[in-house]
Amino acid sequence: MEKINAVITGVGGYVPDYILDNEEMSRIVDTSDEWIMERIGVKTRHILKPEQGSGTSYMMTRAVEQLLRKTQVDPDSVEALICATTTPDYHFPSTASLIIGRVGLHSAFGFDMEAACAGFLFAMEMGANLIRSGRYKRIILCGGEHMSSMVNYQDRNTCPIFGDGAACVMMEATTENYGLVDSYLRVDGEGYEYLHMAAGGSACMPSHETVDARQHYVYQDGRPVFKHAVTKMSDAVETIAKRNGLTKDNITWVIPHQANVRIESAVARRIGLGEDRVMINIDHMANTSGGTLPLCLWEFENRLRKGDNLIFTAFGAGFSWGASYMKWGYDGDVEAAKEPAEFFDSRIMSLDEWKQKRSNA
Ligand code: UT7
Repeated sequence: MEKINAVITGVGGYVPDYILDNEEMSRIVDTSDEWIMERIGVKTRHILKPEQGSGTSYMMTRAVEQLLRKTQVDPDSVEALICATTTPDYHFPSTASLIIGRVGLHSAFGFDMEAACAGFLFAMEMGANLIRSGRYKRIILCGGEHMSSMVNYQDRNTCPIFGDGAACVMMEATTENYGLVDSYLRVDGEGYEYLHMAAGGSACMPSHETVDARQHYVYQDGRPVFKHAVTKMSDAVETIAKRNGLTKDNITWVIPHQANVRIESAVARRIGLGEDRVMINIDHMANTSGGTLPLCLWEFENRLRKGDNLIFTAFGAGFSWGASYMKWGYDGDVEAAKEPAEFFDSRIMSLDEWKQKRSNA
């Protein structure tokens, strides 16, 4: 029997219109454009305002709509949707179920995966294994966050870092030698004290006290997280490169989690790669946690070529981290040129219908 590989065949994305720049940020907390650019590398971030849409599912639905238009895939042929997010709309039902409902993926099952900033990296491995099993031929993987829903805009240590946005990919079965080749993924359980949201879960239920203590926001002790991020992402990239005979001469792109431009540069330096071969969009996207990797693909899609060797790497709360090697499966500009199909306009629930349905819920 021929080996089944799982290849990405399209990318969709969505970022909200509102842009929060460093000048506005420095009116919210005691900070400056100079400090943020020097220490993090973020100039602007997108923020989802309630009047535009609500929840991570809103942004992911818009991304999936775009993906279906670009790939012109019949929504009934999509068999699963995995949603990597740490900011689900609700504890339950899953954000995946809300997206599937609105888009009308009538043949799909779906679920959420929470692995913080490593979520999309882990989702790619899970999705690829659904396809490699031979049971599924076409699935959608989403990654994204409504980070502004859990960022404390009184804490200058965290609020300049994060932004909102979502993107998704179509993953399909192929017998050609393209797609996800290898993954090195790890979780160590050592990270809680440095990076977490203290309340709102079953260990510390929401109460007036937890709200007053502002425990429903991201807490991060930046320095130790920084050190672990550099070491663990660099080690993971080196491991995956060695295992697959990849060197600076045949790696086309490294796609790192966008947490800090200094971390991205350090990872690139470790494998001797120039920054021109590292996908960086943190300056205008900020850290969108589970959204960073697919948003990089979305923005750089037209520069990708069939056969490119890509290494993805991510690091986040838990700690959770890893790297994956993918052989890219299509010329990006060809796909992007496809015309929208009117079929989808009639099929997908309109924004007004969606808002109405949500306000009735
Ligand atoms: O995505 C998940 C994984 N996350 C990461 O990988 C993030 C890793 N960590 C980082 O990227 C960095 O540690 C931060 C960007 C979070 C912080 O940068 P840093 O260079 O590690 O700064 P620091 O926390 O050590 O703070 C240095 C100084 C402090 O002042 P003192 O104590 O030296 O007087 C802070 O109070 O900078 C001060 N500071 C600020 N100053 C102006 C902290 N935040 C700000 C701010 N504006 N926004």
